Amino acid sequence: SVLASLEGRTELARALQKVLEISRVVVVVGDSDEEQWVKDTLGFQAATELRTLLQDGDVVAVTGGSTMATMAKMMPRHSAAFPVRVVPARGGLGESTSIQANTIAEQLATAMGGSYSVLHVPDRLSEETLKRLNDEPMVQERLEEIRQSTVVVHGIGGALQMAERRALSAKEYETLVKQGAVAEAFGYYFNQQGETVHSMTTVGLKLGDLDRMRLVMGVAGGASKAPAIASAAKAYRMDLLVTDEGAARSILENV
Ligand code: G3H
Repeated sequence: SVLASLEGRTELARALQKVLEISRVVVVVGDSDEEQWVKDTLGFQAATELRTLLQDGDVVAVTGGSTMATMAKMMPRHSAAFPVRVVPARGGLGESTSIQANTIAEQLATAMGGSYSVLHVPDRLSEETLKRLNDEPMVQERLEEIRQSTVVVHGIGGALQMAERRALSAKEYETLVKQGAVAEAFGYYFNQQGETVHSMTTVGLKLGDLDRMRLVMGVAGGASKAPAIASAAKAYRMDLLVTDEGAARSILENV
């Protein structure tokens, strides 16, 4: 029955809160690995949670990925605009345009009646060019806003899946395998213990910036992402995780 499944998911959420040490976990029905509608539900749930938790003056940083794109798509359009500011968390990570943080920031801001900024950083810049870019006054200005955001909403992915999607070189891929990378978030790659083993050279949010934020919210579902979610939960402080039954059950089976 609907009630039984609701109760089951509350139990799952409670168990996950304990295991992952995250103060609030929300679990939606289904497994997004198997059904597209589950990802839509996950996105809707995340959008609703975010909208409820936003306060006046918040600056929200968002990452890229298909889950974040779904969240932006599912954000309910209220008649009253909410003047929130949305910014991309990091520069180019090698994603296609539709799931880039810039695109998602714009869509999310538009849905809520807020404003947004973009950070145009090409992928795969040399260290030297990146350093120069960092010194540009306009980039500095954007970066300041990004690094002082109050809320961050992010996706979490499997390390090797992300490396493949972003077309990392064979050498980088091998290194990730050797280092036991299992998770990726914000362009950082983590091993099972939640230690950073690699990070993308681009501008934007640094992992350390999360410490100052009022709310760090992760959104990820599907049983295949269980190891990634568990690793991310160790890597940095997450205040809220929105996930699905598929991921939740798999995480709990493996502790
Ligand atoms: O950083 C994590 C990935 O962006 C997650 O991507 O939502 O498409 O699985 P995804």
